[in-house]
Amino acid sequence: MQEVFLIFCFKIILLKKSTRSKVQTRGKPSSGKGSRRSPGRESTLWDQAARWYDALVGDHGSGYQKDIIMPGATKLMNLKKGNRVLDLACGQGVFSRYLLAKGMQVEGLDTSEELIRLACQRSKPSIRFHLADARKKDTFKESHFDAVACLLALQNMEEIESTLQNVARWLKPDGRFVMVVTHPCFRIPRQTHWGWDEEKKIEYRRVDRYASDLSIPIITPPLAGSSGHTLTYHRSLQNYFTALAGAGLWVASLQEWASKKESQPGKRAKAENRARKEIPLFLSLCARPVPANFNINR
Ligand SMILES: C[S@@+](CC[C@H](N)C(=O)[O-])C[C@H]1O[C@@H](n2cnc3c(N)ncnc32)[C@H](O)[C@@H]1O
Repeated sequence: MQEVFLIFCFKIILLKKSTRSKVQTRGKPSSGKGSRRSPGRESTLWDQAARWYDALVGDHGSGYQKDIIMPGATKLMNLKKGNRVLDLACGQGVFSRYLLAKGMQVEGLDTSEELIRLACQRSKPSIRFHLADARKKDTFKESHFDAVACLLALQNMEEIESTLQNVARWLKPDGRFVMVVTHPCFRIPRQTHWGWDEEKKIEYRRVDRYASDLSIPIITPPLAGSSGHTLTYHRSLQNYFTALAGAGLWVASLQEWASKKESQPGKRAKAENRARKEIPLFLSLCARPVPANFNINR
């Protein structure tokens, strides 16, 4: 399959060999450059990627967002009109706008000042956008939201434990948390690749590393000569589930979503289409707060 590895719905161009390019076990991201920012506020890696990301996503989302992610996440949230929803790590607010159009009361939160500025610019003023870190617990009061969604963003967070604890804190007791990430088993930048088995005539997915936590720099924007990067933090399913359980969230449903892309007619098209259906691109799940009186040993 000639498909360049896709993540966040955009092409990754792998960094050339350099110290920055090494896949690392978790390290601190350095500050991005070049964004207009408030005095005293540190720029994030997503600030320098903000204009490019905003152009990619636009008002209504990239192909994967429109066709798979936003409708799928909305279904998992099982919302009623007027529900209060948090779009956590909202970026330029595409899912916030989608939810507003469905009749929800929406708030968005992101740590990138530039993306929050673009979110405000593109959206109706009834959506409240907050410039804040998801790890900071006092941004909202307890039991404030019917649902929280975090789309394509947990994989950009170095530490998710405190974020998930906040999700549990901000959700109403019967609320729902929906997360979508690129599939952590099959879509790890630089560690998974498509391959062609000539004997069996099948397209396969090779997985070189999975169990280790990794921080992987991705050139963003993915253009030749681009000097910026963002970081993808790979973690195993075990680590996601441990963090959810540690935050007092139980997984009510889990879905794996395949790409809907079809290959151009050709010798390998059938095998490529089959591989895309067999090996999912996204992992999504809905988690709910564990009831206060729940005894795990009973
Ligand atoms: C790939 S973008 C996804 C944005 C949006 N959810 C979407 O689907 O278009 C990842 C986002 O995560 C945000 N982010 C990363 N770490 C964060 C944190 N600790 N708190 C809040 N937002 C964070 C980034 O600023 C960026 O906007």
